[in-house]
Amino acid sequence: MNLNIEEIRNQFPILNQSVNGKPLIYFDNAATTQKPISLINAIKKYYENDNSNIHRGIHTLAERATNAFEETRKSVQQFVNSKEVEEIIFTKGTTEGINLVAYSYGEKFIQAGDEIIISTMEHHSNIVPWQILCEKKAAILKVIPINEEGELLMDEFEKMLSSKTKIVSLVWASNALGTINPIKEIIEKSHAFGAKVLIDAAQAVSHLDVDVQDLNCDFLIFSAHKMYGPTGVGILYGKRELLESMLPYQSGGEMIKEVRFEGTTYNDIPYKFEAGTPNIADVIALNHAIEFINGISKSKIRDYENSLLDYFLQLICETNDTIKLYGTSKKKVAIQSFVLKNMHHFDAGMMLDANGIAVRTGHHCTQPLMSRFGIEGTIRASFAVYNTKKEIDVLVESLIKISKK
Ligand code: ALA
Repeated sequence: MNLNIEEIRNQFPILNQSVNGKPLIYFDNAATTQKPISLINAIKKYYENDNSNIHRGIHTLAERATNAFEETRKSVQQFVNSKEVEEIIFTKGTTEGINLVAYSYGEKFIQAGDEIIISTMEHHSNIVPWQILCEKKAAILKVIPINEEGELLMDEFEKMLSSKTKIVSLVWASNALGTINPIKEIIEKSHAFGAKVLIDAAQAVSHLDVDVQDLNCDFLIFSAHKMYGPTGVGILYGKRELLESMLPYQSGGEMIKEVRFEGTTYNDIPYKFEAGTPNIADVIALNHAIEFINGISKSKIRDYENSLLDYFLQLICETNDTIKLYGTSKKKVAIQSFVLKNMHHFDAGMMLDANGIAVRTGHHCTQPLMSRFGIEGTIRASFAVYNTKKEIDVLVESLIKISKK
């Protein structure tokens, strides 16, 4: 695999600590990844040297901050290969991005009787905004079912599509199961019926190659903090003609061309959707997360993480029959949900924490998915490029120990 994991780990100061007297093992990367030192330093440097509001001042600091902010936009454009830099909107995260589209596109284009398709494995942030829109507009929400492995039933999806389908909003990689959905096929099939497609790429973006032009998706949304970047920053990619046709989401400063009491004209994209002072320092810092990923290469990150997942699954199968896995599709990112047959997931999570191991426990903001499997929640281990097989050994040993209690 020729990655120097020790060197990569050294870039993450947070990993070098003990928790409850044990070396920290951080397996909660699907909730948020840790941050490299280059990014932490960039935030400090920004506040020490360049802090200023952007797009407003003509003084030197304002120019420096504006340039650095817009540099990140260009890096994101290259990162997702959008045709135009103006198609990249900064938000505060995936949730805000989906809400923006549900409101700004939905308010204008969804009518009574129209249909919106999501799936059983969606995060609440890709369910509730559509429920609210459907309620307001008397539109209909349809849900693609999944099989026991946690894969979409594509036949059922195809049966749902019709000229009434206006939006298909789907997760690319499931946060709870890890399943990678066949989004290119989904986009093609949806477009054949004239539907617009939104891809929730929150869990995909740090693992899978993203090329929005090749995918031909209409919207693609993700958060910086799940790709080694800062919290409080998200990206909404949208096709220019769609973004231009949509209503503003929030209004106020920055999103206008001219304000008169008789009426206001709106700014061009992307600024039309960036009302108010944005999260300048963290947008600038995001550039360093992109550099971190590109510096290693996504394919190497993906291959390494997949080897960790395979190793974990091999150990689990060999050693433990008290564990039940959820999310067993062959096409997965390095996320594994499971339950211990004899123990509540919260108790298991607390015992793992006592061993210095951080995992997420609960419903993972996917309650309908948990209901589909007849469970309340799971333990979820999610791997990143700085994790090691040695850490997985400790996790599996701890699971064996606690499952015998
Ligand atoms: N959506 C994040 C997760 O899956 C918070 O943990």
